[in-house]
Amino acid sequence: MSAPNKSYDPVEVEALKPEEIERMRDEALAAFAAAADLDALREAKTAHMGDRSPLALANREIGALPPQAKAEAGKRVGMARGAVNKAMAARQAELEAERDARVLVEEAVDVTLPYDRVPAGARHPLTTFMERVEDIFVSMGYEVAEGPEVEAEWFNFDALNFTPDHPARAMQDTFFVAGPKKAETGVVLRTHTSPVQIRSMLDREPPLYIVCPGRVYRTDELDATHTPVFHQIELLAIDEGLTMTDLKGTIEHMARALFGEGLETRLRPAYFPFTEPSAELDMQCYVCRGASVGNPERPCRTCSSEGWIELGGCGMVNPRVLVAAGIDPEKYSGFAFGFGIERMLMFRHNVEDMRDMVEGDVRFTRPFGMEI
Ligand code: DAH
Repeated sequence: MSAPNKSYDPVEVEALKPEEIERMRDEALAAFAAAADLDALREAKTAHMGDRSPLALANREIGALPPQAKAEAGKRVGMARGAVNKAMAARQAELEAERDARVLVEEAVDVTLPYDRVPAGARHPLTTFMERVEDIFVSMGYEVAEGPEVEAEWFNFDALNFTPDHPARAMQDTFFVAGPKKAETGVVLRTHTSPVQIRSMLDREPPLYIVCPGRVYRTDELDATHTPVFHQIELLAIDEGLTMTDLKGTIEHMARALFGEGLETRLRPAYFPFTEPSAELDMQCYVCRGASVGNPERPCRTCSSEGWIELGGCGMVNPRVLVAAGIDPEKYSGFAFGFGIERMLMFRHNVEDMRDMVEGDVRFTRPFGMEI
């Protein structure tokens, strides 16, 4: 800023000439009028009213003028600035009113619109069914146990008494996890939930009552009755003096809780390396209760008129498995049971194609309702 200087010639102070001041004022007024929105107005304000605006700079020059010229120039600049301030405030009020009116329209809420059109999701029937089965066993005092889906071969096969050449280990059934350069790792994607039996026996002391739901993997193509990823529930009870009748009574209780009162169950001899004796457990068909057998007049779609539905594999835990898990087979015995959830859901709800369960189409899930 210039210091007061008596010999200063005001004529040379171009910025303070009346026509210059007028021009500055008019430019400011034009800029405000041209500002289309509040952002543009803010920029115009900085340019024409800010510290470095022409009028502000001119104002600073006043101090350098002799007294007479100073008063005149001061008045001129002051009036111009006053007019500019007023024009700015007026334009700002105008633009704010415009914005408020626009926001009211744009952000209006039509309270008459339906508020519940977003369809609420539902849990997958596989999940709810699995939890229902868990609940049946939990109410009998069982604990829920879990194990990893990427499992050591030892847990998945060896400890369960699968011999090294057992066909279930073959490439067409098992997903083997390869190491670098396809080296063998001894790790597989578990082919059943039975390895959790071993993990539970190693983790806990008998007596032991566990139920173990989970995802399992097999190298099957996806078709109407197969999927490479499916679910099983495994049951294991270890205690003193358990027998096959305890097994049968337990599964009968489950079958009735799931499918209805009074359903018979039966055991058919079978083979599993980890149980001895082993059996397949069948339940009387809950739809025809056997009435369709030998009765072509009343065929049953659910059991293909066989009268029985296979629930799953079971048996008394093989003493070799108890030994592998550090349990004394002289003192304890146990029973085990395992079955596929998808298959069970297909029976229970007459689902004909397994693919419907895995493809995630809500049209499949919706009829199961909003069960939580
Ligand atoms: N783990 C067998 C499978 O996936 C099913 C099974 C059979 C489980 C017998 C058991 C059992 O616990 O006792 O084919």
